[in-house]
Amino acid sequence: MTDTLRLFQTQPTRKGGDTVIRSSASTPSPDERPAAPPAAGSREAAPTTAAEDPTPPVFSQDEALPALGQDLALPAFDQDRALPTFGQDLALPAFGQDRALRIAVLGTGYLGATHAVCMAELGFTVIGYDVDAAKVERLSVGEVPIFEPGLEELLRKNLESGRLSFTTDVSQIARWADVHFVCVGTPQRAGDGGADLRYVDAAVDGLIAAGLAPGALIVGKSTVPAGTAAGLAARISAAAPDVELAWNPEFLREGFAVDDTLRPDRLVFGVTPGGAAEARLRAVYAATIEAGTPVVVTDYATAELVKVAANAFLATKISFINAMAEICDVAGADVLELATSIGYDARIGNRFLRPGIGFGGGCLPKDIRAFQARADELGAGASLAFLAEVDAVNLRARERAVALTRAALGGSVAGRRLGVLGAAFKPNSDDIRDSPALDIAAALAAEGAEVTVYDPAAIPNARLRYPTLAYAASAREAVSAADATLVLTEWAEFRTLDPAALLVHVAGPVIIDGRHALDERRWRDAGWTYHSLGRPGPTSAADLLPEAADLPKGHGTRKGR
Ligand SMILES: NC(=O)c1ccc[n+]([C@@H]2O[C@H](COP(=O)([O-])OP(=O)(O)OC[C@H]3O[C@@H](n4cnc5c(N)ncnc54)[C@H](O)[C@@H]3O)[C@@H](O)[C@H]2O)c1
Repeated sequence: MTDTLRLFQTQPTRKGGDTVIRSSASTPSPDERPAAPPAAGSREAAPTTAAEDPTPPVFSQDEALPALGQDLALPAFDQDRALPTFGQDLALPAFGQDRALRIAVLGTGYLGATHAVCMAELGFTVIGYDVDAAKVERLSVGEVPIFEPGLEELLRKNLESGRLSFTTDVSQIARWADVHFVCVGTPQRAGDGGADLRYVDAAVDGLIAAGLAPGALIVGKSTVPAGTAAGLAARISAAAPDVELAWNPEFLREGFAVDDTLRPDRLVFGVTPGGAAEARLRAVYAATIEAGTPVVVTDYATAELVKVAANAFLATKISFINAMAEICDVAGADVLELATSIGYDARIGNRFLRPGIGFGGGCLPKDIRAFQARADELGAGASLAFLAEVDAVNLRARERAVALTRAALGGSVAGRRLGVLGAAFKPNSDDIRDSPALDIAAALAAEGAEVTVYDPAAIPNARLRYPTLAYAASAREAVSAADATLVLTEWAEFRTLDPAALLVHVAGPVIIDGRHALDERRWRDAGWTYHSLGRPGPTSAADLLPEAADLPKGHGTRKGR
């Protein structure tokens, strides 16, 4: 297990003014390897997906639990209920959308490409700038380098309109644009887990060196530690006194990026008092604001903190329910029923309360580590010490999924064939940054399993990062002759698999549902042995939690169904 642990791609690196909130409307938010021969006795191949299949909808870990409604809009403002909606009686000045504004977007990755396309969709003339020539070339011919539903259509439409173009030449944007959105990456720094700000610095310094138009506004959207904007603002004003900086953090979710950009829950503007930035931002977002999106106008530090605080809260909620799954395993309880029950409490809510193999991606893990690193620098490390535990629970869910697979196969995966369904860190994305699914697949391969991975969108990215894993072109190919099948990303394609049809392709009817994405009864009725974390099942809790081996009699069993 210790060898396994070292394989996980991201270990925690930690040890153990004048705020003005004036907001507008108070809208409540809402590869390839040949297929193995069929298993002995297999019958004619049957389709593995069934459109007529009655499987109820299942939700991703960051979505609502099934059988529950949406989070309820909360009525009142006492502390254990909702926060007040800001400025509900403040009338907004009627900003007409100034489509004459010229917008540059620096960094055209997941965030920047979406932002550039959506700004053009709103009617602005937009140039996306990136240092990655291959990315710029693809975007310029209407190819989105990432999987993001709806984005390519909008990209092509806006390229054709002439409002959108891309460049690798900073001099084409520096003096041209009225507003520069900085959307470059802020990855985890090696060593202390803090945010690596070199790309943000390079983007801003590149603009300053190329020369900015008088009265231009630079708007940071990247996720940065508190204090970053103040430092950048000082550099900018020393070099270009009439250029302002604002911080406008981004909350989009991959898979829903277009909609989240055009219809965000809220807009947060971190500005300096008395400047022109707020009015300019209101002009850029006029259509969004007019549609009722609340605006919070605040200072730099608060705007920076809003983003990391939101991600810290979401990460904590996921790790909370995964910690409950650990307890359910040793107590013989059912974490799904527990989550559903506590989620009915409107103060808790059911979203982000789905147990599973934890969170990953390019944001939550690195953001909670950077947040802790910054708190340490500020002398407030104790305030965020709990985030180290949130991170530990999250990584433990991956170890537990490996242990569950081992236990389901009688104690070892060496020499066994595993079909892994899912590589992306979440469905509807090809993002494999810190993906729990690939971490688990790699750990199992390191223990000697023959692992074949299939994902509807993320295989090209996965192949680059994990070249030694085998990849399949379909779910059926991935599970062909497998001793166990693991569902590790809750794509709709996997949720709607027909267990009876799939059975004829596998060597062993063992299903490990890492995301509680499947209908257990349906899989069991079709003849599969169903395994998941946090629910009564055929494996023993002692297999998952070595420290639970000494539990009193009657506890520590996952048997019962
Ligand atoms: N991906 C998300 O869902 C999401 C959501 C909200 C916030 N964010 C934040 O947005 C930022 C970007 O995230 P991402 O996922 O888009 O990253 P990404 O790695 O997909 O994109 C970053 C882009 O910046 C480019 N770049 C680097 N240096 C540059 C420079 N000097 N000038 C111009 N371009 C440069 C890179 O080539 C790359 O294309 C991060 O701070 C992230 O935390 C991301």
